[in-house]
Amino acid sequence: MAYSDWWKKTVVYQVYPKSFQDSNNDGIGDLPGITSRLPYIKKLGADVIWLNPVYKSPDKDNGYDISDYCAIQPNYGTMADFDEMLETAHSLGLKIMMDLVVNHTSDQHKWFQESRKSIDNPYRDYYIWRDPVDGREPNNWGSRFDGSAWEFDEKTGQYYLHLYTKEQPDLNWENPKVREEVWNLMRFWLDKGIDGFRMDVINLISKPEGLPDGNKKAGAKYGGTGLVANGHRLNEFLEEMNDKVLSKYDVMTVGEMPGSTPKEAIKYAGLNENKLNMVFQFNHMNVSGNPDKRLGHWNDEPIDLVDLKKVLSKWEIALDGKGWNSLYWSNHDQSRAVSRFATDDSRYRVLAAKMLGTTLHMLQGTPYVYEGEEIGMTNAHFTELSQYEDIQSLNAYKELVEVEKIVDKETMLKYLAYRTRDNARTPMQWDRGTNAGFTEGQPWLAVNPNYSQINVEENLEDSNSVFYYYQKLIELRHNSDLVVYGDYAVIDMEDEEVFTYRRRYNDETLLVINNFTSHDVIRDYGQENGALLIGNYVDDKNTRLRPYESKVYLLK
Ligand code: NOJ
Repeated sequence: MAYSDWWKKTVVYQVYPKSFQDSNNDGIGDLPGITSRLPYIKKLGADVIWLNPVYKSPDKDNGYDISDYCAIQPNYGTMADFDEMLETAHSLGLKIMMDLVVNHTSDQHKWFQESRKSIDNPYRDYYIWRDPVDGREPNNWGSRFDGSAWEFDEKTGQYYLHLYTKEQPDLNWENPKVREEVWNLMRFWLDKGIDGFRMDVINLISKPEGLPDGNKKAGAKYGGTGLVANGHRLNEFLEEMNDKVLSKYDVMTVGEMPGSTPKEAIKYAGLNENKLNMVFQFNHMNVSGNPDKRLGHWNDEPIDLVDLKKVLSKWEIALDGKGWNSLYWSNHDQSRAVSRFATDDSRYRVLAAKMLGTTLHMLQGTPYVYEGEEIGMTNAHFTELSQYEDIQSLNAYKELVEVEKIVDKETMLKYLAYRTRDNARTPMQWDRGTNAGFTEGQPWLAVNPNYSQINVEENLEDSNSVFYYYQKLIELRHNSDLVVYGDYAVIDMEDEEVFTYRRRYNDETLLVINNFTSHDVIRDYGQENGALLIGNYVDDKNTRLRPYESKVYLLK
């Protein structure tokens, strides 16, 4: 099939099924719930829905531990419910992109159940098993969620590899039979008519030869697994995937690739390359980490705007004409955009949410809106450990506070409140009624108490809401080649308060000005000569920028 690039003009809306809409009041979101809300997503104007995993799973990592790739998680409904959702989406002109989680399976998957039975089981080589070395783990790798990346299995006296929890054993992609299984399960969903895949940690599938020790940061217990990213056979595996499967379908593919550089992104998702369409990179998510590298991700540092600009600019410039950016502030693994990237999620919440939306949607790439972002939902602000459900957060607390004693309880609770994945996972806030209209039952994770002020109902009633602003941003992208294809240049990189850039396409220029502070600043970019396309205040054509003000001008 010829190279096609319809996905460049699209906007993606991410649905986290567990938290979106419950239809049977068991406290867990489900497929019929999603189907009932498709007209809402259509109203917003998004084109593609990225659906987090809905496959059968013991749910240790909220569906990223799959025990049957061709079955639906019973809590979410049935295959008939899935088919109905897909059909309804298509009838509304919406596409569905599924999550493909094939770096690892659940330990309850039948392949792993067989694999662990004996060394000569036909499924043994579906996973990565190694003998102990000097009576201990085969190397020093730490898992991303759970102590050592190796788990000893008494029955056969060997260790298996798990880069995530021990219930998520890594598949052995060196084994052609494993690859064949993956191609088959992809075909199963593509033949149903889905429109693409977001590929979970796809750059971890090729492990380095000989599985060498990783570098240890000062004082760290385990070596890092950074060396696993973008391994020596990744390109070959992606080429095979394209050859055997993707080339037969006109679909959108996004590779989640932690630890990647723009050069790697171009290698695996270069334009006209027929591998992936784009990658998810994490550089901007990692701005302002904890100065203590052992804590890295766990921090409560405000965002350094200059660093953020540098990272986003680096990607915009490097990929122009060579690759394609995925643009996002938030997803199910991150804090809420307005609570992390603006310093104010209360007094200036609405303005800040619109400002962030403007900053992101006017860049070159495909924007991803995470459920609730379009109404300005905020972090959960949990204060007690018992409020958390996320395995990454709970394991990190255990390891860093109780086992390693690197950080005290109060500090870690502050870090969790700022960075936990549960911030993104609290139920969608639909209305002012019981549990924000998410469920009549007991929600699996607490609803954010601010739902009586922040909800879809209130947004739809207010013509000045974040929702209608996002609707307009999406419309702009649909109607402007300048917004989609224009090149990018930052203006005044060292400005610590304002993020301004221009886009250019043919003879048109767009000027995008965003005040990231809660006070007035004065900046003159010649905006008085422009025509305002969108802004979050009534325009005064002034060089004064009000708190969190955004202005987008078409320059003459
Ligand atoms: C990335 C996913 O987005 C995250 O939610 C998950 O825990 C890990 N990959 C492991 O699958």
